[in-house]
Amino acid sequence: MSEPSGKNSSQAKPSPGDRVSAGDAVGGRRAFGAEVLALVCGGLATLTPVAAGLWMFLDPLRKRSAAAEFLPVAQASSIPADGVPRQFPVVADRLDAWTGFASEPIGAVYLCRQKVSGPEQGSGEVQAFSATCPHAGCFVEIDPVEKCFRCPCHNSKFTFDGSMVAPSPSPRAMDALECRIEKNGEVVVKWENFYTGIAGKVPRL
Ligand code: FES
Repeated sequence: MSEPSGKNSSQAKPSPGDRVSAGDAVGGRRAFGAEVLALVCGGLATLTPVAAGLWMFLDPLRKRSAAAEFLPVAQASSIPADGVPRQFPVVADRLDAWTGFASEPIGAVYLCRQKVSGPEQGSGEVQAFSATCPHAGCFVEIDPVEKCFRCPCHNSKFTFDGSMVAPSPSPRAMDALECRIEKNGEVVVKWENFYTGIAGKVPRL
């Protein structure tokens, strides 16, 4: 049997040089970790103001799309007080991403004034409805024969006060909109779009 040689025994023991190498390795890992940490911190320090600036830049667009505005749509005198709705375009300045469009049609409303008899004729309250069908978003029309609203797409039918006439595929009545007559006689409507195809009247923001 041969004894393990002295050379082999000395190879199994860690040499002082080996201990220095291990220390270097630990030091190297620490230095690498510190560099990564510095890079992450530097990246965060750079990106935070960029993200804040981007948010400030986009914020007006976000607010604009979320806010429902009162928009002028007609002169009250142009709506005969005969209980028959009239359609009016809704016109507003529009922002499409970063491009602005001045005075663009963004939808349509029906305005209706109830019949008033006697000396107050013509001063009836105004009702406003979105012309968008709550079923799938087509434009609702006036049926002059049956004197009602009718949607040409799937034949939903509504009375002039916006109530739905069954059977209709629409899940709800027409969407009434807030409106008022200003001192100058202008009818302003709180313009909102609502989700279609659901029973609830939920504004799209
Ligand atoms: S979109 Fe109006 S009935 Fe379907």
